[in-house]
Amino acid sequence: MSRTQNLLLIACFALVAVLSTYTYLAKQNNAVKNNATKWYSQSQVSQGQVLFAGHCAACHGDQGQGAANWMQPDAAGIRPAPPLNGSGHAWHHSLANLTQTIIQGRGAMPAWKNTLTEEEIISTLAWAQSRWPTTIYTAWSKANP
Ligand code: HEC
Repeated sequence: MSRTQNLLLIACFALVAVLSTYTYLAKQNNAVKNNATKWYSQSQVSQGQVLFAGHCAACHGDQGQGAANWMQPDAAGIRPAPPLNGSGHAWHHSLANLTQTIIQGRGAMPAWKNTLTEEEIISTLAWAQSRWPTTIYTAWSKANP
């Protein structure tokens, strides 16, 4: 083989290596995107936004940021409203679990079962989750498949 043929052969190998790395990374990227596929629809988010502003924002904050001192129970051990925007603990709980908490109420939060339907409650969670950073949403979906 001539020197030129050798160089051509090396160039071909390099091209194949680059192309297969590229395909591999593209596949990885798609896998990440698929993981981030959400369970809720845009119409649930829109409905939830209105309901959240009307029923939940007074305690949980208009952006779902929670009470400023949410980690500090008061003297009687009552906890302030936690964030629902992904910066609190809500992502540790399954959708069913969060829905039940809202239906039944907990601590200083009243029960919502006589005010909102289950479907409406789920839409408030859709809105709250639409504010979660992708890393939090992905961690939540992995923990609650
Ligand atoms: C009167 C104030 C108040 C209102 C109004 C309120 N909450 Fe809460 N919420 C709380 C408090 C306080 C807690 C924490 C209860 C505890 O753990 O002791 C809580 C907890 C929660 C949790 C559990 C979060 C977690 O990390 O486990 C969810 C979910 C939730 N609220 C959603 C809602 C939604 C949705 C609405 C509107 C339909 C709403 N809340 C209205 C005060 C309120």
